[in-house]
Amino acid sequence: MERRGFLLSGMAGSLAVASGASFAQEGRRTPDVIYVPTPQEVVDGMLKLARVGKNDVVYDLGCGDGRIVVSAARMGARAVGIDIDPIRIREATENIRVAGVGDRAKLIEGDLFATDISEATVVTLYLLSRLNLKLRPKLLKELRPGARIVSHAFDMDDWKPQRSESVGSSTIYLWTVPGKKA
Ligand SMILES: C[S@@+](CC[C@H](N)C(=O)[O-])C[C@H]1O[C@@H](n2cnc3c(N)ncnc32)[C@H](O)[C@@H]1O
Repeated sequence: MERRGFLLSGMAGSLAVASGASFAQEGRRTPDVIYVPTPQEVVDGMLKLARVGKNDVVYDLGCGDGRIVVSAARMGARAVGIDIDPIRIREATENIRVAGVGDRAKLIEGDLFATDISEATVVTLYLLSRLNLKLRPKLLKELRPGARIVSHAFDMDDWKPQRSESVGSSTIYLWTVPGKKA
């Protein structure tokens, strides 16, 4: 169960934030979405859909316990995880250590909306539809043409995915950042 007074509301997979009281008490910005980890088979599907390889730089925006970062680093990519919750950063730090991928994995504690993501060739998301939409201008502005974006469960409204796939009971979506003219 999520700490800090958050509750997973409604049906499975609902990521709505129920309360951010303790973050506010600590003077921290409240996370935009609660922590729910992506199942490992879906992580594997996301990285496969994005064709992650050793030349990639994979950014997981809201990295939770770092499972996507660890899996991408295991595939030989350089991987960066950003999370606003220090508890998640501590968990991810430990998971990177245990996996022995510290040479290719980095964590940033902070707000994903305020972090430079321009070096990413692949971005992974498990946020919410409204957060994907809020993020869309940043993705299109900062990422280079050809960068791939993979989202677990949530789409980008009228920016239609190039591909979508079912993995277990989840849907994953792929977009490629278009050239500047497009
Ligand atoms: C649904 S979880 C996904 C975790 C991981 N990406 C995965 O798929 O297993 C969303 C994560 O985003 C983080 N988060 C929420 N708002 C954030 C923000 N503004 N900046 C950075 N991280 C944020 C939460 O702390 C949480 O760990």
